[in-house]
Amino acid sequence: MRILIALAAALMVTGTTAAQAAAPAVLAAPNINVANVQAHLNQFQTIANNNGGNRAHGRPGFKASIDWVKSKLDAAGFATRVQSFTYGGATGYNLIADYPGGDANNVVMLGGHLDSVTRGPGINDNGSGSASILEVALQVKATGFKPTKHLRFGWWGAEELGLIGSKAYVKSLSSTEKSKIKAYLNFDMTGSPNPGYFVYNGREAGSSPGSVELQQRLEAAFTAINVKTELTNVDGRSDHAAFSSAGIATSGTYAGGDERKTAAQVAKWGGTAGQYMDRCYHQACDTTSNINATALDRHADVMAIALWGLAA
Ligand code: PHE
Ligand code: ZN
Ligand code: ZN
Repeated sequence: MRILIALAAALMVTGTTAAQAAAPAVLAAPNINVANVQAHLNQFQTIANNNGGNRAHGRPGFKASIDWVKSKLDAAGFATRVQSFTYGGATGYNLIADYPGGDANNVVMLGGHLDSVTRGPGINDNGSGSASILEVALQVKATGFKPTKHLRFGWWGAEELGLIGSKAYVKSLSSTEKSKIKAYLNFDMTGSPNPGYFVYNGREAGSSPGSVELQQRLEAAFTAINVKTELTNVDGRSDHAAFSSAGIATSGTYAGGDERKTAAQVAKWGGTAGQYMDRCYHQACDTTSNINATALDRHADVMAIALWGLAA
């Protein structure tokens, strides 16, 4: 009898433990391995090298970039779709990747443009954002994350010609489909060589409701990794614009471009005062040498922290 009671108690303890283990775990976001992101950037550089030095709209290096990112996501079990559009007499492409599962009526989306300008390979602009969201997507799968919300990732074409791909995507959505997207986070230039840590201002003119909360979530993610931030008014200069115009909450991060770093920013972030944050912006020298690995890593970590927090 004594033994049976002890056994029952032991089973209860075991049962409790098992129930706790089976309960929905609040999983911490993974620390993104920057070496993986750099490997993706090397791939974009190789694609440019093999295709006339760029990955621009209408050029073979762009389609090769789409095909390569798609192959990585397909292998990880994402449901991928290539959306075509026409601009300037050439076919452009967006790549959309859905992670199976989660509440289809509550979609959290991350995106960035995959095209470069014709003058160079576009490794910071925007291999950096593209490679980082790819690695975040791959880590969703690798960690077995089971988000409550549905996750979607987008790689846009022809951003450099006027945000063409992202506008075409948003235009293609019914109002019901638009309303299901609860958050869109954009990442364009996150590895700038003289970097800053900017968050898109959720209060800037034209921002949709909910954008301030996304801004604050990104700021909190940088705080969690001990990085100071500044807000930036991106205005209509990147792919969140079409989402914002459609009433979708948006934000994003940015490491700086053709702005010169101030002394105050150097005090905060290090780097070189008076120097452009990206001196190779839209130039042939925007190669894998034009990347600050620490900035690339921190922005990617923030993407993961924000995504895990938003979608859990
Ligand atoms: N969208 C700009 C480009 O691709 C760069 C940019 C990114 C500007 C983020 C502002 C904020 O050239
Ligand atoms: Zn860009
Ligand atoms: Zn650009």
